[in-house]
Amino acid sequence: MNDVLAAVLYLTAACLFIFGLKRLSSPATARSGNTTASVGMLLAVIVTLLDSGIVDYTAVIAGLLVGGAAGAVLARRVAMTGMPQLVAAFNGFGGAASGMVAAAAFLDSSLTVETGVTVALSTVVGAATFTGSFVAFGKLQGLIPGRPLMLKHQALPDALLAAALVAAAVWMTASGRPAALWTAVGLAALFGVTRTLPVGGADMPVIVAFLNSMSGVAAASTGFVIESSALIISGALVGASGLVLTSIMSRAMNRSLANVLFSGFGGGDGEAGGGGAGEGRPVRRATVRDAAVTLAYARSVIVVPGYGLAVAQAQYGARELADRLEERGVEVRYAIHPVAGRMPGHMNVLLAEADVPYDQLLDLDEINDDFPRTDVALVVGANDVVNPVARDDPSSPIYGMPILDVDRAATTIVVKRSLSPGFAGIDNPLFYMDSTLMLFADAKAAVDSLAKAVAEA
Ligand code: TAP
Repeated sequence: MNDVLAAVLYLTAACLFIFGLKRLSSPATARSGNTTASVGMLLAVIVTLLDSGIVDYTAVIAGLLVGGAAGAVLARRVAMTGMPQLVAAFNGFGGAASGMVAAAAFLDSSLTVETGVTVALSTVVGAATFTGSFVAFGKLQGLIPGRPLMLKHQALPDALLAAALVAAAVWMTASGRPAALWTAVGLAALFGVTRTLPVGGADMPVIVAFLNSMSGVAAASTGFVIESSALIISGALVGASGLVLTSIMSRAMNRSLANVLFSGFGGGDGEAGGGGAGEGRPVRRATVRDAAVTLAYARSVIVVPGYGLAVAQAQYGARELADRLEERGVEVRYAIHPVAGRMPGHMNVLLAEADVPYDQLLDLDEINDDFPRTDVALVVGANDVVNPVARDDPSSPIYGMPILDVDRAATTIVVKRSLSPGFAGIDNPLFYMDSTLMLFADAKAAVDSLAKAVAEA
């Protein structure tokens, strides 16, 4: 293929990635954004196959068939709650692919110092991303314990390993020897494991976003090694967007990335585990009928979904309940906290699945001032993102994390199974307030029964 034509087509593919990414920023355009970026990727693959003087298409076609089929089956089968681990696996394979291409270039040719640096970056970051991502996968999938697994003085082995890794990368760049390459790859793989094991299972989504960014860095450096502009641009886009996402998630939890990486925060996978918090303190229990009457005679209701809604798959019931309320003239909106659930956009995706109109989904900044003017805040399986201590108690570990001010609504109805804490593992004073009604039930069973009861009220 003509070089100029190939360059123009690669640039077109890069533009499609950028437009696709832009469209992902709103639920209304996200699907078409995904398609746009996929078309860009298909174009880049076709140009590469036609442009790079492939000697044998057999392995390429076999790879496409096996990889494509595995990807399609996995993507169709995975439950929404399993999406973080699927993304972790994709990141791992992405890092490994970039690292392997760069390693092949290293073993194949004599390198200049400049290319040597980019090869070292690709192989080291690629190997660490591969193993780190699979440790993240294991934690999210429950194959390895979700709690932080760290040594008492973790900083020392971390520092020694990091120093050895840098030394091996320098050796590899300076000598061009295969032994140096394998040493650097081995150390990087070990680093990926030892840096991911100490992170608590419930912090894994932040780590997955970070590793996603790293897989982009590995791809972009590999792009320099093999002089592929499409790979450089797409790698840079993944690297930058992954880092922005990591920063948004950390900020929404009022934590730094360093704190997520090194503090060993959070217990296991964040599944609330029975009893514990607040035992003995009085709460106002509500029956389904009490809650339904309160909702049915409200003028305005804000639904606040959380992790429990995702676990229970209660999004369809929540939509049904909202429909019944709207039929009675109640204004219903949904308040979306940026880290509600366990992955970015978790609540948006679930509610979109249930065809909740996008204009009813409002971000924290857009809706928080409305709670004092709202009759009922209906909290479904959320806990930390509505915990007032984050706003009011400077001694709380989550102090400073922005929260949805549901406690300022006239009445707050909280649907959860017990008084157990959420991911952060701390008690929630919201449950004991006079204006709060606790409806202890599985989220799906509760919203389904509420929808029926409202229809009959
Ligand atoms: P959480 O604070 O984790 O609370 C979820 C609550 O759901 C639990 O207290 C649990 O109480 C309840 N629940 C579980 N299963 C349920 C079911 N079947 N039916 C009804 N309730 C159920 O959730 P949240 O408010 O969404 O906050 C998210 C937390 O995850 C934050 O601390 C955030 O920092 C952290 N996090 C989020 C992300 C992203 S990107 N979203 C990433 C990393 C960490 P019961 O057991 O009593 O029912």
